[in-house]
Amino acid sequence: MEIKGRIALITGAASGIGRSYAEELMNQGAKVSICDINVEEGEKLYHSLASRHGKDKVIFCKCDVTDYPQFEESFKTTIATFGYIDIVINNAGIMYDRFWELQVDINLNGVIRGILLALRFLGIDNGGRGGVVINTGSNVSINPYISAPIYSATKAAIVSLTRAFGDRYHVCLTGVKVMAICPGATKSNLVSNVGKQLLTPQYEDAWRRDTATSSSQTPEHVAKSLIHLLTNGKSGSVWLVENGQPACEITFAKH
Ligand SMILES: NC(=O)c1ccc[n+]([C@@H]2O[C@H](COP(=O)([O-])OP(=O)(O)OC[C@H]3O[C@@H](n4cnc5c(N)ncnc54)[C@H](O)[C@@H]3O)[C@@H](O)[C@H]2O)c1
Repeated sequence: MEIKGRIALITGAASGIGRSYAEELMNQGAKVSICDINVEEGEKLYHSLASRHGKDKVIFCKCDVTDYPQFEESFKTTIATFGYIDIVINNAGIMYDRFWELQVDINLNGVIRGILLALRFLGIDNGGRGGVVINTGSNVSINPYISAPIYSATKAAIVSLTRAFGDRYHVCLTGVKVMAICPGATKSNLVSNVGKQLLTPQYEDAWRRDTATSSSQTPEHVAKSLIHLLTNGKSGSVWLVENGQPACEITFAKH
C-alpha cells in the first residue's frame, strides 16, 4: 500500500508509539485521526501536526476504546471529515496487571471493538472501500513475561485475533487486511511505576529478570517498521520489532 493520500485512524495516538505513528504517517503524506482518551496531550499533538502539515490533514477525537459509542463516534467523525478511512491502528494499551479488568478491556476488548468497527465502516460487504487494520501485540505475545501474566495474555490474544481475522477467508468477504505489530521494549510512558503496575510489588524481581536482556528502542523506530508492514505485509502476518532491528515476520508452525 502506498501511504501518500491515505487516511489513518490511530488509537492511543497522543503519546509514545501512537504519536510516532501519527508523525511518520503524516511525514509520508497521510491524513491522520488522533484518537485518545487523553484530551490534553491529544490536542497538543493536533496543534503541533496541524501547524506543520495543515489543518485539513489532521483531527483529534476524544476516544476511550472501552466505550463502544465513543469509539464509533470517532470513526464517524473521521469519515465525516476526510470522506473515508484506509488504515485503522489499534494501538491504545496499558500495562497494569493490578487493574487487570480495565487492562483486558483496553488491550483486548478495545482491539476487538476496533476490528469490528473497521469491518463495519471499511468492509466492502458494508459498502466500504476495504483497507488495513494493524493490531498491537508485543514481544510478550510470543514469550510471556512471568512478571506480567495478564498483560502477556492480552497481547497473546492479539496474535490469534490477527491470524484469524487476517485470513484470506475474511479478506475475501470484507476487503480488510489485518496484521499485527509486536514491539519489544520501547521508550514511552507505558511503564512509569512498575511496582504499582504489576499484580503485586513482589513480582518486581521477576520483572527485572524478564527485562534484563532487553534494550529500549525508540518509538520512531517502531513507526518506521509500521511503514514497512503497511507497504510489504500480507494479511494475517505478525511482525516482531525489537532492539531497534528491522521488523521480522513471525512464522507459526501448523500442528
Ligand atoms: N512501550 C513498550 O515497551 C511496548 C512494548 C510492546 C507493546 N507496546 C504496546 O504499544 C502500545 C502503545 O503503548 P506506548 O508504549 O506508546 O505507551 P503510552 O502509555 O506512551 O501510550 C499509550 C496511549 O494510549 C492511550 N490510552 C490509554 N487508555 C486508553 C483508552 N482507554 N482509550 C484510548 N486511548 C487510551 C494513552 O492516553 C496513551 O496516549 C500499547 O498497546 C502497548 O501495550 C508497548
